[in-house]
Amino acid sequence: NQGVAFRTPPEALASEQAQLNPFDWYAEMRREHPVRYDDQRGRWDVFKYEDVKQIVSDHETYASDVASTDIRLVDRDFDTDRAPSMIRADPPAHGRLRNFVNSRFQPGSIAEHRARFEQIADDLLDDIDSGANVDIIDKFSHPYPVTIIADLLGLPRDDYDQFLTWSKAATELSLTGDEKAIESNKRRRARVQREMREYFSNLISERATGSGDDLITLAAMNDELTHEEKISFCLTLLIAGNVTTVNLITNALWCFEENDLFDAVRTGAVSRTKVIEEVLRYRSPAQTVRRVTTKPVELGGRRIDAGELVLARIGSANRDPARFDSPEEFRPERSPNPHIAFGGGIHFCLGAQLARLEADIALEKLLDRFEVINPDLSDLSPQTFLYGVKSFPCRLETGN
Ligand code: HEM
Repeated sequence: NQGVAFRTPPEALASEQAQLNPFDWYAEMRREHPVRYDDQRGRWDVFKYEDVKQIVSDHETYASDVASTDIRLVDRDFDTDRAPSMIRADPPAHGRLRNFVNSRFQPGSIAEHRARFEQIADDLLDDIDSGANVDIIDKFSHPYPVTIIADLLGLPRDDYDQFLTWSKAATELSLTGDEKAIESNKRRRARVQREMREYFSNLISERATGSGDDLITLAAMNDELTHEEKISFCLTLLIAGNVTTVNLITNALWCFEENDLFDAVRTGAVSRTKVIEEVLRYRSPAQTVRRVTTKPVELGGRRIDAGELVLARIGSANRDPARFDSPEEFRPERSPNPHIAFGGGIHFCLGAQLARLEADIALEKLLDRFEVINPDLSDLSPQTFLYGVKSFPCRLETGN
């Protein structure tokens, strides 16, 4: 696998159209090749709900620390060059890297921030004029979760703009395309990465004896983490808690427009909580998680050797007719809705409750503020980082 860019898509997803709508391909694969080896990319793809669920639940067979194998990935995670963060760690390191912060992300702790998050949303919406044509990602979906993460980490207010710029660069510099593009993006990404590492390194040192209740202080004061691990923790929160949530909010607007749901969600005729779960299922921001087999294993009738890279396609699992009635239909109040958009097992998304609260507030505020939300779906282009679009043009009008 040496030299294979990690996110090289399978041939079936080469076109932009297919990236926006990978669901037909998923359906075909679930029928024809639910567990398949891709010769060109040198990895396995897994499509069925039951198999994907098995993979995310069994961390002993399917390890997350892909760096511990001999699989070389050009496009390594942004944050794991020096010290792995929890997302790429296996037990026992995983517990050490995650447990100290778990309680801060429980529903009760997260709910305490509601008023501050509402204020952040209001401030951003204040900057949008009625009647304007805007890219809602640029004006709202992106700065909103980034400001929230900056707030939770306890960054100085004056640094928020810098943080937003880094966050954009971190996620926009995708390592796909031709070799020249990959090389140049790699260099720019390395530079951004250096700047961010240095920035967090300094803040962590400053807060080692601090008394604040922000997440940087929490990490800084933890004796069980190395300095590099503390830096990786901060970077992980920025990356993992950022585009995912941007896409949840934007994908929700996309689904509302397609299904003519703006009024029903605004008036409460459709439950916001439920519709957010359906967006998570129907247009899952993270379509895949990756693992490495630690031993030979049988899955879906295929034998996978030890040390193989496996892509578990949660976006496909969430549309599996063996688990969901009419999975290709967007049902705003689907119940039950056992989607696995946040993964499962020990790596279940740390920020799941945060993301749900963020989306709830964002959609409430946005729909309250603007009576007309008129997205233009005619020319969407896919992100290369996660499942969503690069920009989302909308005309917005208040009621008065
Ligand atoms: C893990 C999805 C928001 C932080 C994960 C995983 C998924 C996921 C699928 C599992 C990865 C794996 O098993 O390899 C999402 C989605 C989000 C979201 C769809 C928004 C809609 C957030 C937010 C944060 C966050 C807001 C910020 C705190 C993390 C972390 C992990 C993780 C730290 C690693 C957990 C571990 O390995 O123990 N997320 N996420 N996520 N997520 Fe999220």
